[in-house]
Amino acid sequence: MNQTISFILDGVEVSAKAGQTILEAADESGIYIPRLCAQKDLEPYGSCRVCTVFVNGRAQTACTQPAAPGIVVENNTDTVLAIRKQIIEMLFVEGNHFCMSCEKSGNCELQAFAYRFGILAPTFPYQFPDREVDASHPDILIDRNRCILCGRCVRSSRDQDGKNIFQFVNRGPHRKVAVNSQVNLADTEMNAADKAVDMCPVGAILRKHVGFKIPIGERLYDHQPIGSDIESKRSLQPTGRTFTVNNK
Ligand code: FES
Repeated sequence: MNQTISFILDGVEVSAKAGQTILEAADESGIYIPRLCAQKDLEPYGSCRVCTVFVNGRAQTACTQPAAPGIVVENNTDTVLAIRKQIIEMLFVEGNHFCMSCEKSGNCELQAFAYRFGILAPTFPYQFPDREVDASHPDILIDRNRCILCGRCVRSSRDQDGKNIFQFVNRGPHRKVAVNSQVNLADTEMNAADKAVDMCPVGAILRKHVGFKIPIGERLYDHQPIGSDIESKRSLQPTGRTFTVNNK
């Protein structure tokens, strides 16, 4: 059944197909809702909370919440933007992110959000966790210092590569992505062509031998803010509000 419904998103009437999430409907309407763990073609996971919106006044994750007739969704308000900004800040301090020396700089979604939300320095204390690097594989590197636990590699390896190489283990601050082997990545079936490598939004999973092939300054987010591909679909004038969050 191809039922179409409508709801209000940032004061604009938006159409959605029955079964679509708020995030999917927003994307088709050219209204950008930031996201990190959600990725087209991957099962929604709802872990990062970067896509938080208010639905009829209650905080929900847009990547998992189905669009419903008549709901009122707030996406681009001061309150919502401040929540997202704090989530991004927390992701930075929970890991060890040194953008200036990271091969993913310019292509990193976390870094791109820092620019989009005007984060100059986190307001939370750095945790400086002790994390492992697995460089055992001849073609791929895992640097868990940069991992934000979005689970995109876990779902991609399972559902797109059919290999199930990655799994979460442990809880709380000890949670980490483990590989499906007794020892390390070199002992798995992983190879450099796996989609799971491309799914990593940060520099936690990288291909070896191609580092800095595209120079800094010529990478995706060096040219355009994250989300501008979706916003460019919109016939309405962009509000520009996502770039004016206070740095309090
Ligand atoms: Fe929705 Fe991560 S993108 S919770």
